[in-house]
Amino acid sequence: MIEKIFFEKNFEKGYDAVLVFTNAVTRPASNELQLKKKKKPKVVIRPVLGSIAMPKSFQVFSNEKFLNDQIAPHVKDQSYQAKPGEIFPIYSEGLFRQIVYITLPTLYNKKDGENFVVNELLNTLRELVATVISQQKRSCNIAIDCSKLAFLAGQTKTTEASLVRCITEASFLGDYRFDSYLSKPLAARHTLSLVGAIAITPALQKAARESRLIAQATNHARDLENEPPNCLGVAEFVARATSFAKQAKFKIKTLDTKQLRKQKFGGILAVNAGSDEGAKLLTLEYKPAKPLSHKQSVLFVGKGVLFDSGGLSIKPSKAMEEMKMDMSGAAVVLLALWAISLLKLEVRVIAVIPLTENLIGPQAYRVGDLLSMYNGKTVEVTNTDAEGRLLLADSLAYATAAFNPDYCIDVATLTGACVVALGSEYAGLWSNNDKLAGMLSKSGERTAEALWRMPLDAAYLEDMRSKVADLKNAASTPYGGAITAAKFLQQFIGKGAWAHIDIAGVMSYAASKGYKKAGASGFGVRLLVDFISCLANKTKEK
Ligand code: BES
Ligand code: MN
Ligand code: ZN
Repeated sequence: MIEKIFFEKNFEKGYDAVLVFTNAVTRPASNELQLKKKKKPKVVIRPVLGSIAMPKSFQVFSNEKFLNDQIAPHVKDQSYQAKPGEIFPIYSEGLFRQIVYITLPTLYNKKDGENFVVNELLNTLRELVATVISQQKRSCNIAIDCSKLAFLAGQTKTTEASLVRCITEASFLGDYRFDSYLSKPLAARHTLSLVGAIAITPALQKAARESRLIAQATNHARDLENEPPNCLGVAEFVARATSFAKQAKFKIKTLDTKQLRKQKFGGILAVNAGSDEGAKLLTLEYKPAKPLSHKQSVLFVGKGVLFDSGGLSIKPSKAMEEMKMDMSGAAVVLLALWAISLLKLEVRVIAVIPLTENLIGPQAYRVGDLLSMYNGKTVEVTNTDAEGRLLLADSLAYATAAFNPDYCIDVATLTGACVVALGSEYAGLWSNNDKLAGMLSKSGERTAEALWRMPLDAAYLEDMRSKVADLKNAASTPYGGAITAAKFLQQFIGKGAWAHIDIAGVMSYAASKGYKKAGASGFGVRLLVDFISCLANKTKEK
């Protein structure tokens, strides 16, 4: 765990590990050279990303002579290959135990899709920094050389602030471990210093503190997702949400089962019927302190199934293994709101979270049951494992009517079909509004929490028609299952702009890689915070 972050002028203090960025300028492989030469002989040949490594010129992004000097002999004798993405540690005695040289890819004149290339580079930076930080098993003081940040920004066509954000975020994300139930916790305790004389201005320090907060929000979400289902039930989730609300000073209101019954939340109650622990519907509200000239409000809805057994349409054991994480949507919107509130972003944000388990028992809802939903629509239950959409349908109907938001975004581990479609790289995005979809996609690119937009054509609804009710809760075929689920939700949203994000495929990773850790991902926190902060900045400009 990184316990403290410092901003320091120079390396006088001494550190256990120092990270230094380098940049290898490589020439393209000779056949590429030939080809290009023939076509346009007079054009200067630019090196190409990903080409065979042939160090031509080589830069160390440091003003420290010592750090420059240490790598030189290794470059000369070629033990250091200077390939993009290479991590080269040198162990020494004295001021620093370890110096780690990290080679970034170089960006060239890529006019088309330049943003894409820059985002990719920033993500490589995240991965490399996180990898180095997570290799530090013992408690230590880590320093990152930022003495030539401006130059590095120029070289990579990005801003110093983006670099600082990436470095900080990656350090905190890469350092994450879920070890609270181990008798011998693994986590080492580190300090992180960003070092560079004039390089780290107060504005950049602010950027670092903000991205630390956002990474911590992600880590808190990962904690909730990783909690075993017998440790984090409905009541415990409410307790945790209440303490986050207190800390970040946003409002929290809870509807219990009795109130849900009174107000006819037929979907939530049906799913909850098999569980001993009552369902809860949380409403969290963050209001910016400053009154705005142009008021905007955003509604988040997050699926909070604390454990999904599938109900009577029970899941096979293998498929049940990760179902403690079926509350990832809930965790993500809760912690996004926590960060938004602490960052004091100037947009009103409300989060609505339905909480329950999906279990079996004498009272459990059945296949064939007829449900009367919050908005009066009727639903025939054809599969008790399609429970998420029932919870979300009630929550969306209730919250869009109660708050009439400018934008409504739901986040849910909704379908196995989304995992089949997109794997664990992209989350699925559905929206009835191109502007909202565009803004979310851009946030996805910037944060490397990528979204892939999927169709919402009316024809997909045909599969959801029932003979005895307005809708059935599961289509008769599994094909296009993530889309039919989205179509189902759309019947409950009222009129405004809405987006649905299916995070089933990205809720967890099988293995650790860089800032992505094996286990829960917290995917969506950084995305939603970026979205709200863009919205806040746009509002300010008006
Ligand atoms: N929570 C699951 C979806 C899920 C699957 C999330 C894998 C993460 C990883 C959801 O409640 C579910 O069971 N969906 C069913 C819907 C089907 C019955 C129409 C599914 O995908 O099989
Ligand atoms: Mn299910
Ligand atoms: Zn589920």
